[in-house]
Formats: sequence, structure tokens, C-alpha cells
Amino acid sequence: MRKRPDTKGKTFAVAPMIDWTDRHCRFFHRQLSKRAVLYTEMIVADAAIHGDRQRLLGFDECEHPVVLQLGGSDPAKLAQAAAIGADYGYDEINLNVGCPSDRVQSGTFGACLMKMPEHVGALVAAMKTGVDLPVTVKCRIGVDDQDPEEALDGLAEAVWKAGADALWVHARKAWLQGLSPKENRDIPPLDYDRVYRLKQKNPDRFIGINGGISTISEARDHMEQVDGVMLGRAAYQTPALLGDVDALMEGGEPRSIDYDGLIGTMADYAGRHIAEGGRLSHVTRHMVGLFHGFAGARRYRQILSSDATRKDAGPEVLLAAFAEVDLASSLDAA
Ligand SMILES: Cc1cc2nc3c(=O)[nH]c(=O)nc-3n(C[C@H](O)[C@H](O)[C@H](O)COP(=O)(O)O)c2cc1C
Repeated sequence: MRKRPDTKGKTFAVAPMIDWTDRHCRFFHRQLSKRAVLYTEMIVADAAIHGDRQRLLGFDECEHPVVLQLGGSDPAKLAQAAAIGADYGYDEINLNVGCPSDRVQSGTFGACLMKMPEHVGALVAAMKTGVDLPVTVKCRIGVDDQDPEEALDGLAEAVWKAGADALWVHARKAWLQGLSPKENRDIPPLDYDRVYRLKQKNPDRFIGINGGISTISEARDHMEQVDGVMLGRAAYQTPALLGDVDALMEGGEPRSIDYDGLIGTMADYAGRHIAEGGRLSHVTRHMVGLFHGFAGARRYRQILSSDATRKDAGPEVLLAAFAEVDLASSLDAA
């Protein structure tokens, strides 16, 4: 029998994803796992300072532990935005040093900061002065023609010196010219060993790994090498896998998901959101992948992407979509 990994002190996280990991998505994910650490979408420091804070930063109490990811390159603004996040009750503030989009590059932040480790250190130090919370960084192993050995070690050293509490590494480079953000999540090759080597060199530091991890079993294997594992697309597209996270972290057999309870909770939540002026689809768009592999999932998805998007759609549309799913087919889906 396979040895149970020691997951004590380890972390399972759902990655920050713009347009995906908004508060409704996080509420949904939290119903599936109490132990997963949930990251917000990247919020630009200027937006946190000048924007509609409640819309950008508000969250439900059940989302804890929840981490605010910030983007920016100005130490004073990041310190201010971090302090605003702390006031809102976030559990940790994370700095984005991995996003390669043009919009982000023109503001000289995100992945292009990989070329400026000293500056990233200054940003972390500034954020630390603003808050009494863990301040962490999410980065790549390098950009463009950087040597990942030097680039990642250099960045790690700079952020430790500045007092960072953890470093999450998306285990591939970003190529800043010629690739779209989407291509930059697939085309540069993954190099998990590079992240493992960083951990071996820094045994007392928290180092988490991210990129291309698609099952709980893969997450478990990575946990034997590093301190944390972060899933992005797999968690979003097949959220049922989050139902196994608590068993992974606490030991014991995975429990099957109480889908009736889950859909009931989500329908109530959507009802409250609609009563506050929101739309059903704001909530249900994150739930499209829930019944992946079940009989009836196609019809469920169709209803969520058609009827549920109508302006006047209510929670009963979610219940009707759920009624199409044959839960008894779940064994085949496993
Ligand atoms: C739609 C989408 C939006 C993303 N937005 C962010 C972001 O706001 N901040 C960030 O650090 N990474 C962002 N990422 C990258 C993910 O956090 C993650 O690093 C990447 O998807 C690789 O992990 P995965 O293979 O598990 O998806 C985004 C990814 C996706 C798919």
C-alpha cells in the first residue's frame, strides 16, 4: 500500500486567476474544501486604492483562508494596497511576479519583474511595513533568455532578504514577446526539478509549486518535495477534485461530495446575490465543470450556459440543471 505523505504544515492552494477566482468562485470552492487556501484574482494596487473597494475586495467570511493577490511596481502604492487588504480581513497578501500580459508589462509589473529582483525585494519590504500579515510572492522560474538557475535563485534571495514569508513558483518561464498570456501558460516547458532544487537549497523557507498539476495524486507527489501545491485550471475546470483536498491534508478516505447539499447552498447563495442586484450567471458560470464525467452533465452545462445567463434567471434554473444529472453514474465518473 502506498505510504501516506506527511502533509502536516503543507498547503494546498487554488491559484489566483483573473476573471475566474472572483468571490463567487471562491465561495463555491470553499463549499468543496475547508482546507484549500483560496487566492483572489490579481487586483492592481491602483484599483485597490482608487477603485470600488467593496466590489473588488469584498468577500464572504466563509472564504478564509483567503489571500489577496496584488499587482504593481510602486512600493508606496503596494504598501497602501496591502494595508487596505489587511483592513478587509485577508489572511495574506501576495505579489504577482508572474503575469505576462501586455497590459501588465506596460505598467512594468508581473513577470517582467523577474528581471528586477532588487526591486521586487523593495516591493516586498514596503508591503511588509504596511501589514502585520504574511507577505508572499508568486513568480516564474525566469523570463525570456534568463538562465532559470540564476534568475530564480536571485529572485528568491531578494525576497527572503526583504522578509517574504513564502515563494510560489509557476514552474515554467514566461516569454514576454510573441506569446499570449494563454500560450505562456502552456508553451514554455515545465521544469518541476528547478523548483525542487530551490527547495533543497532553502530547506527552511516555504516554497510552493504551481503549473500543469491536474490531479490530487500529482499534488500529493509534489508535497513530498515542496511545502505547497497550487492548482489553477484543473481546480477551476474540474472543481470536484477539491472534494478530495481535505482528506489529502487531514488523512483518511476522501468523502463523496454531498451534491444535494452543495447545490442547495449554492442556490441559496445565488438567491442572496440576485436579491442584492446580481445575476445568477455570476455564480453559476464557475460551476459549469462540476459534473464532469457524470451522465446528464452535458445538459447541465447547456442549461448553465443558456437559461442561467438570462437576465431574470433565478436559483430555480440551477436546480433544474442539477435535476438533469444522474448522480448514480458517479461511480463510472470516478
Ligand atoms: C484565466 C486565468 C487567469 C489567471 N490570472 C492570474 C492572476 O491573476 N495572477 C497570477 O499570478 N496568475 C494568474 N494566472 C496563472 C495561474 O495562477 C497559474 O499560475 C497558471 O494557470 C498555471 O497553473 P495551472 O497549470 O494549475 O493552471 C491565471 C491563469 C488563468 C488560466
